[in-house]
Amino acid sequence: MAFRWKNSLKDRDVTEESIFLNRRQLMGGAAAGLGFVAGSAASAAEEALEPNPWEDITQYNNFYEFGTGKTDPATYAHALTTTPWTVTIDGMVDRPADYAFEDIMKAMTVEERIYRFRCVEAWSMIIPWNGFELADLLDLAGVQDGAKYVRFETLYRPSEMHGQKANWIDWPYVEGLRLDEAMHPLTIMATGIYGRDIPNQNGAPLRLVVPWKYGFKSIKSVVKITLTDEEPLNTWQQLQPREYGFYSNVNPNVDHPRWTQATERVIGGGLFQPRIPTLMFNGYEEEVASLYEGMDLAKFY
Ligand code: MTE
Repeated sequence: MAFRWKNSLKDRDVTEESIFLNRRQLMGGAAAGLGFVAGSAASAAEEALEPNPWEDITQYNNFYEFGTGKTDPATYAHALTTTPWTVTIDGMVDRPADYAFEDIMKAMTVEERIYRFRCVEAWSMIIPWNGFELADLLDLAGVQDGAKYVRFETLYRPSEMHGQKANWIDWPYVEGLRLDEAMHPLTIMATGIYGRDIPNQNGAPLRLVVPWKYGFKSIKSVVKITLTDEEPLNTWQQLQPREYGFYSNVNPNVDHPRWTQATERVIGGGLFQPRIPTLMFNGYEEEVASLYEGMDLAKFY
């Protein structure tokens, strides 16, 4: 890949931290649906502008290892032990090993990246992540010729992640990328948000961030990375293949079967702000469109 990452977003573009912390509440209001009355929407929006304490960050969260309720992660994620933490890198690599998180951190260059984060539920934010390029981690292990895909797994530890006692998901949670997507300089493993460590609810101690894909691709609390020549079957694809494909690129021209993906609401703009058109590849078209040249993106969604 010829180019290095260059930040085109500025500090002034960043979603205000208080609004970021409040988004669960705000989305709770929005998710109450089109039927909500004006009064409750207005108060939800007002509350959203009111700074919340850090504890509020995950009032409305998807982290099914802690349960299916939106507030379950907030209630239970503190039970997760994140030290010590190892990431097994195996499969088609020269140096398969269990890499200690601290050793990874010593070897990696952690920098701040300001990225758009676009959720499949049609809202977006601009977030300052702290992390390192996934490519650098894969280089540490030495990717072998013939590897075509990267498969990620989240920790399986039902004693601390009680949601894993329910078997509607075939645990552990799995995600996947094509190797060229994984090696792309925009793809990072995030270890912080707003200059602080990622809280457990958001995927401590390290999670994937792929800014041109829908946010659900950001697998949390990763413990295993496998280089393979077979396309991995990710958890959402396994659960609902018609709704969630392998690629999950942000694409305003391909709707989710149950809602449009053509527009989005920028968190922080207020509930009554008009939705804005969603950009192809979440605004990263120039950087990533070449990865998908010649592919029918309606078929490979
Ligand atoms: N990773 C794991 N291990 N388990 C999960 O349930 N949920 C995904 C993704 N990563 C999930 C996960 C979904 S559906 C979303 S929308 C995002 O995490 C939510 O990330 P956030 O809470 O930081 O916004």
